[in-house]
Amino acid sequence: MSPMPKRGILEIAAYTPGKSRAAGVAQPIKLSANENPLGCSPAAREAYMAASSRLHLYPDAKTSSLRAAIAAKFNLEPERLIFGAGSDEIFAVAAQTYLGPGDNAVQPEFGFAAWSIAVRATGAEMRSAAEPSYVADVDTLLAAVDERTRIVFIANPANPTGTWLPFSEIERLHDRLPRDVLLVLDGAYAECAYGLEGYSDGLEWSRDKQNVIVTRTFSKIYGLASLRIGWAYAAPAVADAMNRIRLPFSVPSAGEAAAVAALADDAFVERSVALVVQGRRELTNALRHMGLTTLDTAANFVTVRFDDAAKVETELARRGLLVRHLANYNLPDWLRITVGMPTDQARLIEALKEIVSAAPRQ
Ligand SMILES: Cc1ncc(COP(=O)(O)O)c(C=O)c1O
Repeated sequence: MSPMPKRGILEIAAYTPGKSRAAGVAQPIKLSANENPLGCSPAAREAYMAASSRLHLYPDAKTSSLRAAIAAKFNLEPERLIFGAGSDEIFAVAAQTYLGPGDNAVQPEFGFAAWSIAVRATGAEMRSAAEPSYVADVDTLLAAVDERTRIVFIANPANPTGTWLPFSEIERLHDRLPRDVLLVLDGAYAECAYGLEGYSDGLEWSRDKQNVIVTRTFSKIYGLASLRIGWAYAAPAVADAMNRIRLPFSVPSAGEAAAVAALADDAFVERSVALVVQGRRELTNALRHMGLTTLDTAANFVTVRFDDAAKVETELARRGLLVRHLANYNLPDWLRITVGMPTDQARLIEALKEIVSAAPRQ
């Protein structure tokens, strides 16, 4: 006899993080987890270090200083914010709050892997709606919704494809959803898409919506992935329900202090976005120039197809370049490459030219 996990738990495959090690290479170039190659704001690092004198104290369970800073910066009501150990925790809390056995959630076919884990852990089913052109499709999403659907997840821009929808499509999705279905709009890469015509992060729009939650993170453009700070803006009733069950201390004080400082450093964010915008354009051009197919990205990575993506991933790793093979996303022919520093991207492109030209034609 041994303890039996709940039904369905052993059918869930654990999240596969982007690789961080390459055999025989001391310091590989990591382009596998959509991190910020510039690191983080120096002010954030300082704030983090300064907080080290308070490590023996529990964090503020209300995350009050970051709450106030986000509310001021984005013009949001502080009491409608939810915090978590990364937006990952917020997805899990949303799932625990709204789903149980017999319910389902709906996502685009290539939805972010953590959503499905969160959903299935509750005993609910995750339904995936076809993305015919690797872009989330509002019609297939709506077709997958039934009377047991409680949550629809969508990321804009999306991971792992990098593709995005004009905000009118998000509005159309919301308009046609039953009002008792929660729409989770995941904006992990929102900053990378600001300025694209037709793009909106949805924060302002969601103010008068009772069934929308917009999630954001400090892991990407702010470069604080290791500190695990995510936040969300939701209708008061949604925020109230979710805040009842979230872990009270999941955002550590040092992380909160760093995030407050990061939020104030507009210059760092601007530099980071500029690097992403230029880097994804150059990477896309170079890959297409090699005759490869890439998806139109609005995020900080480029998703590209190869005849033998697994082999290309291995060959790159041998040269100290880590990228992400998307086999676990049911995209076995695709690699996802995070925008890196220009010199690292140049190395990657040279390596790819070598690998692709050496591959036998099919
Ligand atoms: C679409 C999307 N949402 C959320 C996250 C999770 O971010 P966090 O570090 O805030 O948990 C990621 C991270 O890769 C992501 O790609």
